[in-house]
Amino acid sequence: KPIVLSGIQPSGSLTIGNYIGAINQWIDMQNDYDCHFMLADLHAITVRQEPKQFTNQVLDGLAMYIACGLDPEKSTIFVQSQVPEHAQLAWALNCYTQMGELNRMTQFKDKSTKYANNTNAGLYTYPALMAADILLYQANAVPVGDDQKQHLELTRDIANRFNNLYGEIFTVPEPFIPQFGARVMSLQEPTKKMSKSDDNPKAFILLSDTPKQIAKKIKASVTDSDEQARIYFDRDEKPGVSNLLTLQSVATGKSIDELVAGYEGKMYGHLKVDTADAVVAMMEPIQQRYQALREDEAALQAIMAKGAARASEQASKTLSKVYDVLGFIRLK
Ligand code: TYM
Repeated sequence: KPIVLSGIQPSGSLTIGNYIGAINQWIDMQNDYDCHFMLADLHAITVRQEPKQFTNQVLDGLAMYIACGLDPEKSTIFVQSQVPEHAQLAWALNCYTQMGELNRMTQFKDKSTKYANNTNAGLYTYPALMAADILLYQANAVPVGDDQKQHLELTRDIANRFNNLYGEIFTVPEPFIPQFGARVMSLQEPTKKMSKSDDNPKAFILLSDTPKQIAKKIKASVTDSDEQARIYFDRDEKPGVSNLLTLQSVATGKSIDELVAGYEGKMYGHLKVDTADAVVAMMEPIQQRYQALREDEAALQAIMAKGAARASEQASKTLSKVYDVLGFIRLK
């Protein structure tokens, strides 16, 4: 089976953007791929986290993964910091990543503006850690949203560079980006990506938001003002409307064309009510499973332990190859 790796930073609660851009793809891949899904807690500390809250965010994320349909029997589900090979390989790859490459990363440019008082070295070398995450498992495919494409290209460059120097050590991974929903937009500024670190909580939907909150945020979302408030899909002309259509399409399984046809002669209000209902209906069963799981810390511990052992078994093989070709002395 081809190998998949992906992850989400538990730097806050997961958003519907994380679900639609990433997790939703992962669920289906579990049958056809050897899947690895991680909570990227090492990545998350590139921004300050309050420790107690951070611990909870990781457990929340794990419970949400399972509630969404990730299956610890089928897939390796783990917490990044519990698999030490990630930090180990990341160090080596740091030494094969050029500062010029890191300087070009748009996420670094954005975050170093946003967190100008804490532009730490981890934020800067973050893509080398992400490359380590992927290359440790020899992943063939990395299912992510659009915003991670640049990091993936750098991962491919690092892998190729290393292979050219030392032989075929790493599989060079391909991005796997969904056709719809690869970029869920802010509900308040629909030309901007929806992000859990947005200062305005009305801009995003959290997977843990109550049905009331979800409906309220969608109904208060910014739609587009043009003379005739027509409903059609066009990301440039109609970013707000197109975003709601995308959400509704994913939530109902109906195609965008089918939805648009149904809105002929209708108004934005209809679109908002239907989208809110659809998203709430999609989230309700997930949230019910989530509540039950989240309260069972022993079960979550068991899932983490199993995932970390499985991940480490595979990761250690790649790390060992890397240490050998670099010439590190191995204890006999
Ligand atoms: P993160 O935590 O920002 O986002 C996790 C996943 O969700 C997708 N995503 C979105 N998709 C559509 N619309 C949105 N508004 C939206 N917001 C987020 C992201 O594209 C991503 O797929 N660096 C990664 C985490 C990571 C990782 C990895 C991913 C660490 N190591 C290895 C893949 C492989 C990140 O910050 O994603």
